Amino acid sequence: MPIAIAVHSTALGPALGGCRLWTYPDWRDGIEDALRLSSAMTAKTALAGLANGGGKTVVALPPGTHLDVDDRRAVLHDVGDAIEAFGGRYGTGPDVGTGVDDMVTIGERTDHVFCRPASHGGSGSSSPGTAAGVVAALRATVAHLSGPADPAEHSPQAPVEKSSFAVVGLGSVGADVARRLAVAGARLVVSDVRPDAKALADELGAEWVAPEEALTAEVDVLVPAALGGVLTPALVPQLRCRAVVGPANNQLASPDVAGLLHDRGILWAPDYVASAGGIVHAVAVELYREPEYVVAARIERIGETLTEVYRMAAESGVAPATAAEALVAAKLTQATHS
Ligand code: PHE
Repeated sequence: MPIAIAVHSTALGPALGGCRLWTYPDWRDGIEDALRLSSAMTAKTALAGLANGGGKTVVALPPGTHLDVDDRRAVLHDVGDAIEAFGGRYGTGPDVGTGVDDMVTIGERTDHVFCRPASHGGSGSSSPGTAAGVVAALRATVAHLSGPADPAEHSPQAPVEKSSFAVVGLGSVGADVARRLAVAGARLVVSDVRPDAKALADELGAEWVAPEEALTAEVDVLVPAALGGVLTPALVPQLRCRAVVGPANNQLASPDVAGLLHDRGILWAPDYVASAGGIVHAVAVELYREPEYVVAARIERIGETLTEVYRMAAESGVAPATAAEALVAAKLTQATHS
């Protein structure tokens, strides 16, 4: 089975990035994906304030592959051996197609693996951390959309409860985000490609629509929480939201979409900022040994980072992505020159 491990940067410290196990038409597409995703991980760790760089593992399954339990173990052992060969310059965690139990299997070959279940000494699933970070990003976004704070108003709560969201994708992170927003009293539109996810919509009192419809729903914020590439040049003119903020990695089908969104006056939070909560949780618990309440505060800071990105972007009249890229570049140069 072709395995690609991309180490994009170690300027800030050892590279980190999940292990994706996915089907690709050609194994070279898997390499390309690993390269793109690893560079996003460098931006993610840098802006999350972690002393780590970015990397990614992709196991590129040929179309029609079925892995039985033994095949899967063998592949994950190969992944573990390959990671071990990096001698600590790269560590992995779960990603699309892998979970905490797979991290145990990888961990039979290397210690450079995060998110094993607590019973195996790890920090467990990264999904709750990711979801918490997304909600912090959403609060920062609706606060930014509602304009500068009125000094006469002493409400510390950003108006999530007064806003509407379309959550596209109810996997573990999307479902968790939807739940947290529902608890906060937000108006919700949700969708998933799996029809059985409708049960969650009913439970949360959310409006259930088809995925294409959710993407163009009239809401304050569109929350992409499924696979990447959803924001295409063709979709931009159809959007009816004020902002797009979600955990899906690589949301832009092509880099020019950030500019198209900006030109339409739609705020786009770079996905690598909004989705950092999971890796922050894993690193803070497993490497820094911080207690959960300190980790939670660290995840909350994603909101402050995003506010700063929005502020910088507004000041120079550029898209948030441009401001975020400048911040990443500054962090990396600073690290190389100190
Ligand atoms: N899938 C996680 C992400 O994209 C990757 C990860 C989590 C890597 C935890 C290491 C530790 O951020």
